[in-house]
Amino acid sequence: MGESTIKKTGGLADVVAGDSAICTCGIAGKGLQYRGYEIHDLAKEAVFEEVAWLLLREELPRRQELEQYRQRLRALREIPAGLKTALELIPGETQPMDVLRTGCSLLGNFEPEFSAADPLRTADRLLASFSSMLLYWYHFHHSGKRISLVTDEKTLAGNFFYLLNGKKPSPDHEHCLDVSLILYAEHEFNASTFTARTITSTRSDFYSAVTGAIGALRGPLHGGANEAAMALIQQYSDTEEVEKGIREKLANKELIMGFGHRVYTISDPRSDIIKGWAKKISVGHQNQHFYPIAERIEKVMWAEKKIFPNLDFYSALVYHYCGIPTELFTPLFVISRISGWAAHIIEQRKNNKLIRPTSHYIGPEPRKYIPLAAR
Ligand code: CMC
Repeated sequence: MGESTIKKTGGLADVVAGDSAICTCGIAGKGLQYRGYEIHDLAKEAVFEEVAWLLLREELPRRQELEQYRQRLRALREIPAGLKTALELIPGETQPMDVLRTGCSLLGNFEPEFSAADPLRTADRLLASFSSMLLYWYHFHHSGKRISLVTDEKTLAGNFFYLLNGKKPSPDHEHCLDVSLILYAEHEFNASTFTARTITSTRSDFYSAVTGAIGALRGPLHGGANEAAMALIQQYSDTEEVEKGIREKLANKELIMGFGHRVYTISDPRSDIIKGWAKKISVGHQNQHFYPIAERIEKVMWAEKKIFPNLDFYSALVYHYCGIPTELFTPLFVISRISGWAAHIIEQRKNNKLIRPTSHYIGPEPRKYIPLAAR
């Protein structure tokens, strides 16, 4: 490629890197849609398993299909005994995202992909078992218990809460976690999805693609932002402090986590949906004051920089109000996004071409090798 044709934007911004029929993100007149369905409609009307089915199988399930799918996912929640042993060996202070990364890779050793022609089987297995891996490890190290992974909970959201707390969640908590899983499920060619597609393009296996995607999601510029956003909100005890504190951070050129987006320019369409839930479930919580603090951060960011909250910002508050430990926020992103990653892995395989771009060389001019003895 000649230099004149190289885009001078960093990080592949504005580069269209392939065709996809899964999601529109920031397209004028369309907004955010999963396979043609508008995100507000899905967040209001659908349940997470329905959305996962839609992403993976391209159409909405019928009532009976959804019922059977939920049963199927329930049956896939148990994990191999050897994987449990390995999870027990992972140190308790490990980052939970690293636990999921290892758990995913190890499951691929115990249950290698059955057949590249049957990727849905692996997709469903991972969808059903990520909560199990995470919370088995979590309890073993934090409460000294080997928890049972068999629960009666019908939904993935309910099951997550049951495994975490050993009891059923309130309907509000189950509902808002379900909505957040819908919002996190898919987002076009983001860094982790593109990682999964790149790995898939080499004809590697499903588990390798997902393991790589988890590694990409872990970073604070991507999924890790929800944990960082919570840490930010917790720094302040009242809204006056926010005004001063955020302005100082901006003056110091610090990034305010949970704000900004590569594709969206005015707002993240998912943010108001999850913000509404944060407001609702803040009422009566001992940290109810975090909500106005978060709103003030939003106000200052808009006034100072015209930068808006992305999905991660108010999701952090929602998870906090649901009693979920902060270090499990980004793993929840994995637990949802596996549906989108899997849809992209399947799509990439259907029309595969090795993803291998070129770089613009900016290194030294050709030079003569100097023998070791002469250096
Ligand atoms: N706080 C302060 N300034 C910001 C922020 C922010 N959160 N986001 C962007 N800016 C500034 C940035 O410093 C730059 O300013 P200047 O032109 O003066 O150098 C300008 O806005 C353009 O930013 P950019 O870094 O070129 O934008 P990008 O498209 O490369 O980055 C981003 C997008 C999401 C990485 C960035 O907004 C960011 O780092 N945000 C904080 C981390 C975050 O919340 N990540 C979650 C992303 S969305 C959900 C997900 O994937 O998990």
